[in-house]
Amino acid sequence: MEQVKVLLQDREIPKKWYNIVADLPTPMKPPLHPGTGQPVTPNDLAAIFPMNIIEQEASGKRWIKIPEEVLQKYLLWRPSPLYRAYNFEKLLNCPVKIYYKNEGVSPAGSHKPNAAVPMAYYNKMAGTKKMVTETGAGQWGSALAMATQMFGLECRVYMVKISYEQKPYRRILMNTWGAECIPSPSNLTQAGRNVLAEHPDSPGSLGIAISEAIEDAVTGKNARYGLGSVLNHVLLYQTIIGLEAQKQMEKIGVYPDVVMGCCGGGSNFAGIALPFACDKIHGKNVKLVGAEPSSCPSMTKGPFAYDFGDLAKTTPLLPMYTLGHDYIPAPIHAGGLRYHGMAPIVSHLVREKIIEARAYDQLKTFDAGVKWARTEGFVPAPETNHVLAAVVDEALRAKQEGKEKVILFNWSGHGLVDLAAYDAYLSGKLQAYELPDEEIARALNAIKDFPKP
Ligand SMILES: Cc1ncc(COP(=O)(O)O)c(C=O)c1O
Repeated sequence: MEQVKVLLQDREIPKKWYNIVADLPTPMKPPLHPGTGQPVTPNDLAAIFPMNIIEQEASGKRWIKIPEEVLQKYLLWRPSPLYRAYNFEKLLNCPVKIYYKNEGVSPAGSHKPNAAVPMAYYNKMAGTKKMVTETGAGQWGSALAMATQMFGLECRVYMVKISYEQKPYRRILMNTWGAECIPSPSNLTQAGRNVLAEHPDSPGSLGIAISEAIEDAVTGKNARYGLGSVLNHVLLYQTIIGLEAQKQMEKIGVYPDVVMGCCGGGSNFAGIALPFACDKIHGKNVKLVGAEPSSCPSMTKGPFAYDFGDLAKTTPLLPMYTLGHDYIPAPIHAGGLRYHGMAPIVSHLVREKIIEARAYDQLKTFDAGVKWARTEGFVPAPETNHVLAAVVDEALRAKQEGKEKVILFNWSGHGLVDLAAYDAYLSGKLQAYELPDEEIARALNAIKDFPKP
């Protein structure tokens, strides 16, 4: 019998998150206040986030202690298992060993609760009564719905309308965990009303939903906003994935040649990759690859620029690879990857050539996802299918190069609430979608006068 899973005991769970900001070879550009053009101050963010989270967002400390109350909740599903994908390896017939972290074991079915639980905890500690957020695929919204319930907070989620319609079960999950879920654009906010006035049939986008959630939070009483990806503190919380993976691989005496993840705003990829990026910065030979959709190719086709995180321009200007804040991605089924920008930390590391990016079309990703389901059993989320396409690609490259490789990747979530997408794929209704260059040019026009990083 061959060992399929590498498990850690509860007591072996990492007790600190890793903050890569302490190890970056060159400093990151700061987020800017759009009015003054100056770096944002903690007070600029105080209406949106509680101060304990703002401090983490700006922290340069390498290790940040995970509070006992957060660890206790993490233990409901963490440490997550590290698997060896023997069956998928056999199908590919390439000289690769494939390991993956199964983040689909969390109650919400993805990596998102790794960030939702600490976020709800820190908000509770700071006196917040209600959290407001947006969600694309519904994974983040359901994760925050669960986490806020655990800490006795109210929760309202603005869900991108196309996903709200494609994925009714995610809304029901949010309702089951006690949260309210509203299709975005909505009539509840000025930002939503503005979009509806111009585009009554708008499918929505993460950029619009973020604007609605922020407006709702800053105008509410004791309400704060929570973002499910992109920002430094969210990536920090996700590093628990990579830190566990390092311990697990150490147990079996294996070190990866390649570490991979799919990229929406960058949090699950950063979660697995940043602890290995630290090794790379300190001389280790490891390749880090982020996989994004070709319909929303911020890292592979967008410029590195200052841009807003949302359509209504309510966030600070973030230094990132971006397609422009008014870019509305095609309604592909990987709703969680339909975001115009990439996390500033991931963007910085791409620029520094510590991380590479690749883009995959949704048909190729579903092909890989169905192959996976038919060999490894677990049905991946449409987002996760993007990293599977990248793993297939990497395995074929290994064969062409005649090299043996160890691949580690983050299996970011299961697709059991995304079966309509599989139905569309299996019945030949899913379409390939490449972003036309004219659309990039149009969207980038909106940011041409912004400060340059
Ligand atoms: C299963 C899954 N994987 C990946 C993502 C992409 O987000 P991120 O890049 O922040 O990990 C999402 C977002 O909703 C998701 O639900």
